[in-house]
Amino acid sequence: MKFYLDTANMEEIKRITRLGLVDGVTTNPTIIAKENRDFEETIKEICSIVDGPVSAEVIGLAVDEMVEEARNIATWAPNVVVKIPMTEDGLEAVNILSKEGIKTNVTLIFSVAQGLMAAKAGATYVSPFVGRVDDIGEDGIELIQNLKTTLANYGFETEIITASVRTISHLEKAAKAGADIATIPGSLLPKLWKHPLTDNGIKQFLEDWEKVPKKAESLS
Ligand code: E4P
Repeated sequence: MKFYLDTANMEEIKRITRLGLVDGVTTNPTIIAKENRDFEETIKEICSIVDGPVSAEVIGLAVDEMVEEARNIATWAPNVVVKIPMTEDGLEAVNILSKEGIKTNVTLIFSVAQGLMAAKAGATYVSPFVGRVDDIGEDGIELIQNLKTTLANYGFETEIITASVRTISHLEKAAKAGADIATIPGSLLPKLWKHPLTDNGIKQFLEDWEKVPKKAESLS
């Protein structure tokens, strides 16, 4: 499973990159706004740090606006991926861009049908939002399982990015369902490697180590 960071925060990206856990980055306008910096400058900096795909979202909603923005964003770095919203205009834009070799990530996917349409239109990635599906009383992980099966049935190369990941359980279940990628907020990541029993175990081992006679002590 590939791990993307769902953040535009440079400190978080650098910290997690040092652990070898970052295969890519996703952003959206909300994530970009949190950093209070220029959009293009932020994406270019992330692309220079991270080897893998970095998603940057268009703002326009009409086909022509999205295509124009996407063509511009695609010039920012070789590893940039253009995020397009799941609408009729979005599908048309994805179809045009895929034929030009511009990589796309279709975002705001909430059903298998939407994921299938995006894949059919030529999306490189689709982003089903598990947390937001759970928020409306449905099962986000079931969406991942069903979309994975559906795309596999027809041999689509489109990769599934599990997005809107809020919990450790989301990540574990998405991995079990065979999602290609999970994009994880910087705030959730440390919780993935931490466990209270690990901390207790280290504390206990260090306390017990104090009881082991050291060379100088055992001679006296
Ligand atoms: C990433 O591609 C999505 O924009 C992001 O995961 C959405 O997360 P949220 O539902 O927690 O805002």
